[in-house]
Amino acid sequence: MQIAIVGSGNVGKALAGSFTRAGHTVTLSATTPDSARAAAEQTGAQAADSNQQAVGAAEVVVLAVPYPAVDAVLAGVGGVLAGKVVIDATNRVDPADPGSVLDGTSAAEQIQARVPAARVVKAFNTAFASRQADPVVDGVALDGYLAGDDEGAKQTVAELVGSIGFRPVDVGPLVMARALEGLALLNIMLQIRNNWPWQAGFKLVGPTP
Ligand SMILES: NC(=O)c1ccc[n+]([C@@H]2O[C@H](COP(=O)([O-])OP(=O)(O)OC[C@H]3O[C@@H](n4cnc5c(N)ncnc54)[C@H](OP(=O)(O)O)[C@@H]3O)[C@@H](O)[C@H]2O)c1
Repeated sequence: MQIAIVGSGNVGKALAGSFTRAGHTVTLSATTPDSARAAAEQTGAQAADSNQQAVGAAEVVVLAVPYPAVDAVLAGVGGVLAGKVVIDATNRVDPADPGSVLDGTSAAEQIQARVPAARVVKAFNTAFASRQADPVVDGVALDGYLAGDDEGAKQTVAELVGSIGFRPVDVGPLVMARALEGLALLNIMLQIRNNWPWQAGFKLVGPTP
């Protein structure tokens, strides 16, 4: 797949490395071309000079920026996202006030509302960057949950999720992104409260045929 990742930080680098290892073609962007270039050099991806340049030729676009940066990104490239599969990997994070995140909305729905012609799928947000880089623990593939309203887009994202080693699990319509964002917050709170090393991931056990 031709994939653009907007954001070249922990998530951008982890996914870029996993995607290129799986044979996908990846272009990274960041706030500066230098930042994207540095990340690209580490991951086997290509670097773009701008978000616009990164997403232009991509069939799949991953949003891997801090949630407060999403508005600026969409203001710049929203028009180019029409018809594309847009993976929202963002999380709203406020460990001091979890209620502000668990407010009955989701970033993914906000993004879909901002760019109605994009095919938004929530994915990758429930796995830490450490596991996006390495989704298999003790021989067990972690679950890669995805939510969205466009079945074709979800199929594409399920293939992508599976191609890097997760077990793809479709959790339903985009509104379920609320649950996935809550799940991510749960894991974040667990790491902070228990001083864990940010490497635990989710796996449903028991029969799930
Ligand atoms: N870290 C995790 O384990 C994890 C796991 C799942 C989901 N998430 C979510 O994924 C998102 C990214 O997390 P992260 O840990 O990768 O953050 P990060 O390490 O801080 O990286 C953020 C990246 O976004 C780039 N950026 C910021 N504003 C931008 C803009 N307007 N246009 C283009 N790029 C922009 C930054 O560019 P520069 O490099 O130029 O500063 C940086 O490369 C967040 O929403 C986070 O909640 C994180």
